[in-house]
Amino acid sequence: MSGKTSAISIALALALTAGGAVAATSVEKAITLRQASYKEMGKSFKAVNDELKKDTPDTKLIAAEAKKVHGFSLAIPKWFPKGSGPEAGIKMRAKADIWAEPVKFAEATKALQVESQKLRVAAGKGDVEAIKLQFKATGGACGGCHKPFRAEEK
Ligand code: HEC
Repeated sequence: MSGKTSAISIALALALTAGGAVAATSVEKAITLRQASYKEMGKSFKAVNDELKKDTPDTKLIAAEAKKVHGFSLAIPKWFPKGSGPEAGIKMRAKADIWAEPVKFAEATKALQVESQKLRVAAGKGDVEAIKLQFKATGGACGGCHKPFRAEEK
């Protein structure tokens, strides 16, 4: 191998390694953001549930948490870039079906966007019984995605 060739192959090898490292990092970042965001959304949803168990729920607090859940629901489509599935080799509960069935996944996302918006509106009106009913419907939308698209906890 001539000196020139080996310099070129080293440069090429370095470029490939660097490219690979960058790609891995952005996938890792996407997964971290996704998992942290779901946890935050879960906290807000639980806060609504906890409030609804009280004798006189604070509907303003519920409205604020419902708004957060709705905001997260709108961001869901950005949380699943190509390559951020189980093939990334990172611990996750996201199933490969998310990427294999994008239309079904988009429908499950849309369902939460619609129901959480209705929850926001119900909370804004302050009618606790209506909020309770809409909370159930919203929970149904969580389950409607978890059942097909979230794997069992390992
Ligand atoms: C469109 C699909 C979808 C919807 C809708 C959805 N989730 Fe999830 N959720 C997931 C997936 C997929 C994961 C796993 C993500 C991962 O591990 O990378 C997850 C993870 C979570 C987690 C993190 C802990 C865990 O179990 O991995 C919480 C908490 C959570 N979801 C709560 C909720 C709540 C509450 C709702 C409804 C308000 C909801 N999710 C709606 C798909 C969804």
